[in-house]
Amino acid sequence: MIDLISLREQIERINADLKQGIDRLTDRSALEAFRIEFLGRKGRIGQLFRLLGQIDAAEKAEAGKLLNDLKTSANVAFEERRSVLENTILQSKIEEEKIDLTLPGVYHPLGHRHLLTQVQQEIESIFLRMGFDVATGPEIESEYHNFEALNIPADHPARDDWDTFYIDETTLLRPHTSPVQIRVMEKTEPPVRIICPGRCYRRDTQDATHSPVFHQVELLWVEEGLSLANLKYIIELFVHEFFGEGYEMRLSGDFFPFTEPSVQMHMRADRSSNWLELGGAGMVDPAVLTKVGYDPEKVTGFAFGLGIDRMAMLRYGIDDIRTFFTNDLRFITQF
Ligand code: DAH
Repeated sequence: MIDLISLREQIERINADLKQGIDRLTDRSALEAFRIEFLGRKGRIGQLFRLLGQIDAAEKAEAGKLLNDLKTSANVAFEERRSVLENTILQSKIEEEKIDLTLPGVYHPLGHRHLLTQVQQEIESIFLRMGFDVATGPEIESEYHNFEALNIPADHPARDDWDTFYIDETTLLRPHTSPVQIRVMEKTEPPVRIICPGRCYRRDTQDATHSPVFHQVELLWVEEGLSLANLKYIIELFVHEFFGEGYEMRLSGDFFPFTEPSVQMHMRADRSSNWLELGGAGMVDPAVLTKVGYDPEKVTGFAFGLGIDRMAMLRYGIDDIRTFFTNDLRFITQF
């Protein structure tokens, strides 16, 4: 037999052991083992319940209540401890994975378009607004498109004006963008209104205004009734759009086999600076129109080829063309 007094004693011991042990537990499996020791099927509290049968009938209700209270409070104690434990585990995980937003980030510098690309795109947009299309042609060009079709036959001394890199007998790196005129006219019926910006190559000795790689923008307009006055107007309009006020421009007589008459174009930033040659222009020679199957009695045209690098130099006050191609970031990042 067991009486209420000794049952109470045992309950108190269990409570004391539980209280003492539970706060020391720092991980989930230790807590679970401890819980099984008290609340498991063969645990200490379960064993006490088994003693109920030995208790005097008069005290049974009281004993049952005591044991139920014990079970309830033990369950509560374990739940509380579990939530404290889960919370600490979570906190330390958060602590571990914490990102310090005040740390300086990893700097990835963002690039931008090279000044020459910016200038080329600006030129394109000016002419697109005037109703021109942008055409392209190959940088590795045939001798035919580069010279013959432009009215410069094989032994013509004018070929010497272009110090050309030849790839083989009939192929070369284009020394100007004019062959694109031919390529466009070969596959289009007039009217034709295009520009073609692009890279060109010449066997030039490098200096402040010459580079073996440089850029030109070609323009071609073929239609009925065009004259030199229209050419001058287009050039002036472009100069005004691209350079703005203050710049001076002049056209003077020149010779190109593919234009008649031909002019050259010079510009300067103001009266005190030197004239810089930007390129050539003229009325498309009837022989060129005939070569591509146009009727020079019906249509006339004008064209120009201007140096993009030189335009950029003039507008941004750059005095050496070579700085465009040396990839010095101190220069490139200024624009
Ligand atoms: N292609 C010539 C050069 O590079 C420039 C030029 C002159 C282009 C007259 C033209 C033109 O379209 O009509 O020197």
